[in-house]
Amino acid sequence: MAMLNVTHDFLEIADGEVVTITPASVDIEDAEGNKVERAPFHVDTDASAAEKGAYEFYMLKEIDEQPAVMRTLEQKYFDEAGNILIDQDLRDAINAADRLYIVAAGTSYHAGLVGKELFEKIAGVPTEVHVASEFAYNMPLLSAKPFFIFLTQSGETADSREVLVNVNKLGYPSLTITNVPNSTLSREASYTLLLHAGPEIAVASTKAYTGQIAVEAILAKAMGQDKDLEVAKNFDLTGELTKVANGMQALVDEKGQVEKLAADVLGTTRNAFYIGRGIDYDVALEAALKLKEVSYVQTEGFASGELKHGTIALIEKGTPVIAIITDPKTAAHTRSNVQEVVARGANVISIAAEGLATDKDQIVLPEVHPLLTPLVSVVSGQLLAYYTSKQRGYDVDKPRNLAKSVTVE
Ligand code: AGP
Repeated sequence: MAMLNVTHDFLEIADGEVVTITPASVDIEDAEGNKVERAPFHVDTDASAAEKGAYEFYMLKEIDEQPAVMRTLEQKYFDEAGNILIDQDLRDAINAADRLYIVAAGTSYHAGLVGKELFEKIAGVPTEVHVASEFAYNMPLLSAKPFFIFLTQSGETADSREVLVNVNKLGYPSLTITNVPNSTLSREASYTLLLHAGPEIAVASTKAYTGQIAVEAILAKAMGQDKDLEVAKNFDLTGELTKVANGMQALVDEKGQVEKLAADVLGTTRNAFYIGRGIDYDVALEAALKLKEVSYVQTEGFASGELKHGTIALIEKGTPVIAIITDPKTAAHTRSNVQEVVARGANVISIAAEGLATDKDQIVLPEVHPLLTPLVSVVSGQLLAYYTSKQRGYDVDKPRNLAKSVTVE
């Protein structure tokens, strides 16, 4: 990305190689001194897609682009007859596995948590999700036929790559789901699926998270269909992704409301909590990461039911607690957890799906498929994080101590 204003042609260098560059030539040798012949690859990405335009910060531009990313993914992964455009080779390899291992870091790890729901419920395959930096040096006991999925916006995260290097040594098949074609993890995995989200510049990842979940859903449907599973065959994913895109659009169109909530509830706080159950808990973790990384508010995501096992001791008058409620099975329980924190003085924002909402909920989410609710609920969390950071006068796109691509372990 950093070089697209200079060139679109790049030459890959593998570990251990030595390169001699003169004005007239580029020579590559391997560690033994043998000459390496390698052709450059071309990157099509349009450099202007990385411009901020009228936006003050990339983060808001990228939040706003999410409806378009959903529509692009529909076009890239479905033909006109509704067939899924994922190579049969990959589908066969992944369906031959007895267990999926999703490995990722940060926001991508959180997208993996939602992926577990999708792969287990739509494709009927047991799925584990692991933090890459933990997995790399403490590999769990693997199943007989594992298949690895690496989720990585940049495709360059060192923690994830370390796992992929080991997976390759062990000879297991792998897929990288990434936003960056030709990135290291894309080149080194057996298969790649692209997010087609356009360049993501803000350090805080937004459209890559929703893109990753959408691609996981498409892959899960393809796998389930190949196995003849009713739940997959009946999942009208193109229709559902269109609903998601419209729902996201409605949320970003009403961002002024979230801006006000951020000022009222999160304006000067030093800490905050996100709570939810099931898939809402997965989003609580991601929304908490967003708020802490760009606004420096110490924020934790908690499973609502866990509050009473210790964390509720931290709730005092004015502590912000943001509750995500999209699942009818657990809505009543989460609401009773909300009552518990309100009784202790918490300042609550509740984000509820339309069908479950009451007039006390500050944010009402458009109705989407129950497995796709993270795609809309996270948008509110992203906007709360963005406005809290901006109102505090921070550089939203470049939070302190963080880098966009984390290329060290
Ligand atoms: C996201 O907002 C973060 N900046 C960070 O957690 C990021 O998701 C993580 O470093 C993983 O990056 P990747 O997706 O490029 O592998």
